[in-house]
Amino acid sequence: MKASAFFFLAISLLLPSLSIALTFECSHIRVKGKKYNFEKIGGPHTVSLIEHSPPSIHNTTWSVDLCGTLKKNKDVPAGDQCPGGSYVCGVKTTFNPNDDDKPHVDEVIPIAGSFATSTGTNLDPIIERLEDISGSDMTGLRLELHGGTYMKQKQMAIIDLQCDPERTGNEKSPVKKGKDDEDDKVRNAESDQANDSADDNDDDDDDNDSLRFVSYKKEEDKQVLRLDWRTKYACTTYEEDDDSGSGSGKEGTSKHWGFFTWFIVLWGRAQLLLWGWLARER
Ligand SMILES: *[C@@H]1O[C@H](CO)[C@@H](O)[C@H](O)[C@H]1NC(C)=O
Ligand SMILES: *[C@@H]1O[C@H](CO)[C@@H](O)[C@H](O)[C@H]1NC(C)=O
Ligand SMILES: *[C@@H]1O[C@H](CO)[C@@H](O)[C@H](O)[C@H]1NC(C)=O
Repeated sequence: MKASAFFFLAISLLLPSLSIALTFECSHIRVKGKKYNFEKIGGPHTVSLIEHSPPSIHNTTWSVDLCGTLKKNKDVPAGDQCPGGSYVCGVKTTFNPNDDDKPHVDEVIPIAGSFATSTGTNLDPIIERLEDISGSDMTGLRLELHGGTYMKQKQMAIIDLQCDPERTGNEKSPVKKGKDDEDDKVRNAESDQANDSADDNDDDDDDNDSLRFVSYKKEEDKQVLRLDWRTKYACTTYEEDDDSGSGSGKEGTSKHWGFFTWFIVLWGRAQLLLWGWLARER
């Protein structure tokens, strides 16, 4: 991992345009000639899952900031919060009303971020359009963010930014009154199965949040956090770009394409050189 990070760093020093492969600029995203700007939904956003396992109450709060790293809270011990560089991170607390004064932190799970100085891993964002993903009937963008490791397990976030012209993306329902525990238990059981049956729920508080938890589970060799985010900024409001030529490689469709295109160009150039040399030899 470190070697490949170093490789990318070396490459990005040579070619400034490639540095975007390491980070992610929320206000400047271009996919298939369409521009997106998520600046207005920048800043920390959270979604909390409450589980009751009597006598304790577990609260897993997932935080995301599309436009920068999550800020640290000075009043909380460093070990109890997300490491510096986190873009997506979860904190699980447990509270036992019978013998705790306040919740204590059980788990801090860095999902994605730029951890070049600690673990040598990076955000390595991959962006694609939802309409290009088979089985998806939404429009918007899918954002894959990497870099986190928790208990030796690689972590990753898949955030589906779904076009919803009615929402800014910052909507959040008021904090729920701790009313029916039974309701919560049912909902948590459902979300464990990653079945999107929350829609059937009478209690539509959750449904009013623009950012929603979908699942956190092992998929292939990674622990994957999936979130849905309904926002008008995921709608294609911009016209096709006119610079379809040489410029398109620069902020290419997805960041990995940028590298790939560059590689092909270099390879093509090497072939030409070889060709010329062979022609001269003859
Ligand atoms: C869960 O934790 C978050 C972050 O600490 C907090 O904002 C939220 O109010 C908590 N939810 C409950 C129901 O305790
Ligand atoms: C949903 O969110 C909007 C905007 O924040 C708010 O005005 C509305 O009352 C909420 N609806 C429910 C059912 O919570
Ligand atoms: C969960 O989803 C599966 C397939 O998508 C479906 O067969 C099953 O009935 C669903 N379960 C619930 C509780 O909705």
